[in-house]
Amino acid sequence: MTDPWWRTRRDALLTLADEQTPRYVYDLDTVRAQARALRAAVPAARYLYAVKANGHPDVIRALSDEGLYPECVSLSEIEHVRSVLEVDPADVLYTPNFASRAEVERSLEAGVQVTIDNAATLGAWGEMWAGHDVFVRVDPGVGKGHHAHVRTAGTASKFGVDASDLEGLAAAARAKGVRVVGLHAHVGSGVDETDVWAQTARILASHADAHFPDVRVLDVGGGLPVPTGGASAFDIEAAGRALAAFQAERPEFEIWVEPGRYLVADAGVLVARVTQVKRKGDVRYVGLDAGMNSLVRPALYGAHHDIVNLTRLDEPDLGPAELVGPICETGDAFAHGRSFPNAIEGDVVVIGTAGAYGAVMASHYNRRAPAEEVVLA
Ligand SMILES: Cc1ncc(COP(=O)(O)O)c(C=O)c1O
Repeated sequence: MTDPWWRTRRDALLTLADEQTPRYVYDLDTVRAQARALRAAVPAARYLYAVKANGHPDVIRALSDEGLYPECVSLSEIEHVRSVLEVDPADVLYTPNFASRAEVERSLEAGVQVTIDNAATLGAWGEMWAGHDVFVRVDPGVGKGHHAHVRTAGTASKFGVDASDLEGLAAAARAKGVRVVGLHAHVGSGVDETDVWAQTARILASHADAHFPDVRVLDVGGGLPVPTGGASAFDIEAAGRALAAFQAERPEFEIWVEPGRYLVADAGVLVARVTQVKRKGDVRYVGLDAGMNSLVRPALYGAHHDIVNLTRLDEPDLGPAELVGPICETGDAFAHGRSFPNAIEGDVVVIGTAGAYGAVMASHYNRRAPAEEVVLA
């Protein structure tokens, strides 16, 4: 296995830490490499980037340069993308969920490709949709992913149109002069089964066959996992082969994919400094100047992030530690009982796979400024 970029760029990270911590640091070469790996392994007519994962302008531009189109979930994301990129609005996919009528109306006016996520809006907002070509987000029934909060299908999830409502939606669309040209689904994030995109494509194709003769695009969503803690890499080639088998059966459809995490997670680290070390009984606490206000995934999802003491890289572990932040919440921890080397005040610590759903979820809780973002030169 090759060394992660943060190991080969250790000196640069220590220099950046000398200027300021906590700090998100992004490596654009890794972003580009992930985009190329996706394109090489997965046959798709269109590759999109779920901008919600990391909205840094340089990241968005790097992925656009690699031929990826933006997928946005809010009008603000659309405006942000358009301020960063020269992109034809028709090439921006907008996949809102419970967005207001005013927001959806403005996105239609902007000319982006809008996805309907609720059959009821066709009736309630009928005039607004009239004459438009739309995608429909379908709930494929079973959600998957690394945590209940990221499983986005099934009746317990607020996303998508239930399969039983598609016939009525198709009739309402016809009546309002709305053409359904794409079907979309996203079952969840961090799904480690290699045939999920192919399964999703088959489900969407069957709905297209049954109800939507104008559908030419099947968008199978994102959700590729980024393993941590020494787990083996996701077999992207196998995912690509499964999708190719579907495409061979149904060549009339364009397949679109829209990962977020896979493209940017490994490209980002959160660099923090040890503030204090404390013992309570047998428990060793290592406190960092970054908290859950910078990176909330461990507190929100119990997400695992690999964490190293960059100052003492390769020193032996001293045993378990609680790696915590300065926020006044018991949940303000990056790892519990994690084997960790010696750590003293001032050491620089790197929290890995922080390029996705890191800075974008940050807050000012406790009136503490979250980590700023910087791109490695
Ligand atoms: C509609 C949609 N597409 C794509 C994604 C990207 O998912 P991931 O970052 O797991 O690839 C998400 C994530 O929430 C999503 O909601």
